[in-house]
Amino acid sequence: MGSSFILIPSPCKGDTRVYSVPKLDDYSLPALDGLAGDLTSALKAESAAVRNEQEWKAFRDRWLSRKSGIVTQLNDLLKAAPKESKREVGQRVNQLRALIEEQVAAAGRQASAPGRAGDQLDITLPGIRRPLGAEHPIIRTMNEVVAVFKAMGYSVAEGPEIETDYFNFEALNFPPNHPARDTQDTLFIAGQERKPQRERLVLRTHTSPVQIRAMMASPPPLRIVCPGKVHRRDAADATHSPMFHQLECLAVDSNITFSDLKGTLDHMCKALFGSSVKTRFQPSFFPFTEPSAEVYVSCPFCGARGCRICKQSGWIELGGSGMVHPNVFEAVRGYGYDPAKISGFAFGMGIDRMAALRWDIHDIQLFFEGDVRFLEQFA
Ligand code: PHE
Repeated sequence: MGSSFILIPSPCKGDTRVYSVPKLDDYSLPALDGLAGDLTSALKAESAAVRNEQEWKAFRDRWLSRKSGIVTQLNDLLKAAPKESKREVGQRVNQLRALIEEQVAAAGRQASAPGRAGDQLDITLPGIRRPLGAEHPIIRTMNEVVAVFKAMGYSVAEGPEIETDYFNFEALNFPPNHPARDTQDTLFIAGQERKPQRERLVLRTHTSPVQIRAMMASPPPLRIVCPGKVHRRDAADATHSPMFHQLECLAVDSNITFSDLKGTLDHMCKALFGSSVKTRFQPSFFPFTEPSAEVYVSCPFCGARGCRICKQSGWIELGGSGMVHPNVFEAVRGYGYDPAKISGFAFGMGIDRMAALRWDIHDIQLFFEGDVRFLEQFA
């Protein structure tokens, strides 16, 4: 049933409308709901139309003024209601009062919010200039190296910086107590003595444990690079930091050879340093590769003639490399890596030194001090 009660606009006082709540003689539920519905839609429409302080005040008075506001009229309606209808009328009056107060408050916030009509937006004022961030030179260098490998079909793998003895050493063919562990200047997590040795935690000393994790995650063929932070117990100085960055590379397939390693490194160096550089191997030792080699690139700054940067040697050391040791495959044999059927190469290189060379930075501590005056030069 439609409402038989309409709000009667009283004669206009200037530009403000005044409503009267009609006197009721029908207190049936449909009649009450009809009246409540009419009031609610009028309230919402008016509240939405409020655009400034002045309009809001008129709106507020129309609904809330003590003398003749609608809330007062509703209270009168309740008083006049017959006893048996008081409950139903009272309920609706309470609901309406709450809604009116809420709408008046909301319209008030809107009317006083900046940017509403009244406060003009001055578009000639200068805007807020926020300083632009920039990629950190280490991350930038890493991304550039990773991009070279992505173009060759490599995926990116990551692993934890807090690593177990097993992944950092044992699976990489460093047996417990083997002297090769001494070369790693390991930072150990305290309080691990009660665990079996392979479960004890260390800060990873190289990104090579990700080789094992990547092989456990997917069967051969595999081509991954892993950029990341590593830690060693080294005093900080111009060329050392107890935290630095490496990029690991691992390729495993049915017939990977040492010349694939050489070709890949040569391609990487040419992509990073320019097409005229040469790469050189020098025999070395790592427990997890055999044969092993250190990788050098001809100095891109002096064309290998000898300069301050390459310390007159014509060559710059990039990192370690070699063919994956069969014992490493043995550790992941259960994941499809049979050392009799597959082969692979790996290498790991330092990113920080590369970034320092590239921008001629003489103290790698600058990378880690967070001084904006240094970092903003890379923006
Ligand atoms: N992990 C070695 C290091 O940190 C580098 C390396 C990686 C050597 C891969 C061979 C193969 O010194």
